[in-house]
Amino acid sequence: MTTGLDDVVAAETTLSHVDGTNGRLILRGYDLEALAGHIGFEAVIALLWDGMVDHPIDEALVRRALGRARSDAFALLSRILAGDKAPDPVTGLRLGLAMLPDDGTAGDPFAATAAAPVIVAGVMRARMGLNPIAPDPTSGHAADFLRMLRGTPARETEIAALDAYLTTVSDHGLNASTFTARVIASTRAGMVSSVIGALCALKGPLHGGAPGPVLDMLDEIGTPDAIESWIDARLAAGERLMGFGHRIYRVRDPRADVLKGVVATLRGTENRIAFAQAVERVALDRLNRLRPHRRIDTNVEFYTALLLEALGLPRDAFTAVFAIGRIAGWSAHILEQERTGRLIRPQSRYIGPQARAA
Ligand code: SDX
Repeated sequence: MTTGLDDVVAAETTLSHVDGTNGRLILRGYDLEALAGHIGFEAVIALLWDGMVDHPIDEALVRRALGRARSDAFALLSRILAGDKAPDPVTGLRLGLAMLPDDGTAGDPFAATAAAPVIVAGVMRARMGLNPIAPDPTSGHAADFLRMLRGTPARETEIAALDAYLTTVSDHGLNASTFTARVIASTRAGMVSSVIGALCALKGPLHGGAPGPVLDMLDEIGTPDAIESWIDARLAAGERLMGFGHRIYRVRDPRADVLKGVVATLRGTENRIAFAQAVERVALDRLNRLRPHRRIDTNVEFYTALLLEALGLPRDAFTAVFAIGRIAGWSAHILEQERTGRLIRPQSRYIGPQARAA
């Protein structure tokens, strides 16, 4: 049985702090609320990678470098889509990242971060029987992803919403996927291997795989008068409610309200938000009656689900879109681990049979 490493400080980082007691997420000294929707995702990447790469870095440099690297990554798609059936978005992303040069160094963080939206958009289009759309190196990251996916430019409000989402999920302390990235980077396996490992960890429903099941829950509940009976039945069966609970936050995940505000900026979301809020109210009431000694509150995934749905993204792409944002934080931690860390190798307590004669 692993302990889950609750409350274990496994690394020191200058990147982000998750204050679970006060419900704050701090990125490089800034509260999330000061960043999401106020500065672009490319500026957040510059903030996270500043001092981690061996050259000065700012938003303009990041935008240019990501644009060039997205164009370079387009060639990957023909190899990923060579088979007769397009893979699901996470599998496609894993395949595409594995095709990037992996020289064992943290090297150039732009290649993997830029390849993610190109691969995800191309795989999603192939699953619809459509050809991939080439990147526009002069575009912003969020805008180019939506355009590569749809074939036409997205509305400014949609671009701003996705950009705010990518910033909101860009980094979050030593969550399971980021810790995975650091463990792999600590062996000097390099950027690409570390990012691929992190993506594999993100896929799990206890981590980044939750937003799709949040929508499944809302759809299964269906109407306001079915909320209480549906939730009571699932909790009585010992099931977990997706979008609720967190290992660190003992109060509401600050990202939930940031993203709820972003969803409200998108057209036609009023009713969906109202229904989701009704579900949320009952879920929180029941969860905290069930566990009065352990506050379980809304986490980032609940309103992420509504945001990505409002952008017209299919729920089986939600985890891959999460990765498009989080790869910025994984890359920063990989670079930081390379610069300041040691091999990560904890101890275990042996509880197996004592020495026996063969
Ligand atoms: C993310 O770490 C990060 O920072 C992650 C993340 C990030 O940005 O990287 O924030 C992203 O992963 C958000 C979480 C997305 N996952 C979900 O929404 C899935 C549902 N949530 C849970 O499975 C759960 O809350 C976890 C896994 C997120 C956290 O669980 P913990 O802190 O490890 O607690 P636990 O699994 O030990 O549960 C403690 C108790 C258990 O009951 P008992 O077995 O002790 O009787 O609380 C119960 C759990 O069953 N519980 C829930 C619940 N969450 C915890 N019961 C019902 N519904 C839930 N959502």
